[in-house]
Amino acid sequence: MSQPSNRVFSGVQPTGNLHLGNYLGAIKRFVSLQESHECIYCVVDLHAITVAQDPQELATNTREVASAFIAAGVNPKEHIIFNQSQVSGHAELAWIFNCVARMGWLNRMTQFKEKAGKNRENASVGLFSYPTLMASDILLYRATHVPVGDDQKQHLELTRDISAKFNNDFGEQIRNLQHGDAYFPMTEPLIEGPATRIMSLRDGSKKMSKSDPSDLSRINLTDDADTIAKKIRKAKSDSDALPETMEDLKTRAEANNLIGIYAALAETTKEDVLKEFGGKEFSVLKPALADLAVEKLSPINNEMKRLLDAPGDVDAILRDGSDRARVIAEETIKEVKDIIGFIS
Ligand code: TYM
Repeated sequence: MSQPSNRVFSGVQPTGNLHLGNYLGAIKRFVSLQESHECIYCVVDLHAITVAQDPQELATNTREVASAFIAAGVNPKEHIIFNQSQVSGHAELAWIFNCVARMGWLNRMTQFKEKAGKNRENASVGLFSYPTLMASDILLYRATHVPVGDDQKQHLELTRDISAKFNNDFGEQIRNLQHGDAYFPMTEPLIEGPATRIMSLRDGSKKMSKSDPSDLSRINLTDDADTIAKKIRKAKSDSDALPETMEDLKTRAEANNLIGIYAALAETTKEDVLKEFGGKEFSVLKPALADLAVEKLSPINNEMKRLLDAPGDVDAILRDGSDRARVIAEETIKEVKDIIGFIS
């Protein structure tokens, strides 16, 4: 198989509470990449079980993420939407990468430290080796570009390290089997735009997250119009007028966050939003932002509800996507086995 030149892969965990950060940092950007790239979008259920999940909720959350992809505008016929556990190559390649990656590399992963917290001894082995599974997700399809939020940057650097070490360790065999000088690509992270790190609406120094105990800290993709407007009205602000320059904006966490959300929803830049709102009060920005958020998110919310009322249809889309993903995955696994020296 020749190396694709413009293949996008990305994944979202089915762990509930899909929020505006997931949408603006990732899912919305999945949609626009469809024009220029061959796209594979995955509901990463194998990643979800690195922490305990209720089986019924896991299935519901898996359908919810798939519905969000579709409702946001990903076309599952022209591109691929699937859930990870239906393609066994992810787990197979992850094992091989567990033998390529070094303990020292994984020990440096900040997300493991955050997620495991103080009780590291009690974290699952899967939570520790999570980044090698993520590398396998991407490299199983030899994806060239990965759109993600800023919090995934370190994992993508590790993916590149794994790719480089594999290409180097097996260089001779890769050349002998006519795969050129490198089998796996140096995948490029796509971390760009005004919304790579959306912050909590209650605390501009904390990332908006699924696990924040305060529901007011985030806008969920399942929130109705009234709830969205209420959460924006209650968002933390300060008593000064909104800054007029990008320099000043950087020192004002809450203002920076709301301006970034506005820019991403309106598909413009923070600079442009400042031209309109700079020097004005938060009380002018907030109602405008609430209207914009409702206008952009309500259609997605409605479409998600419609899709979730027909779970059989969503399951069929995931099955079809998995069948097509598996064809690509099996080819990679076969070639990797040949490179390593496994008899197949
Ligand atoms: P996950 O499920 O935590 O988040 C899904 C996507 O949403 C982005 N994101 C944010 N972006 C901006 N602001 C925020 N506050 C915010 N919170 C989350 C994440 O960066 C991500 O892009 N490890 C990944 C899932 C994964 C993956 C992959 C991604 C597994 N395999 C392969 C890309 C490629 C994760 O836990 O994302």
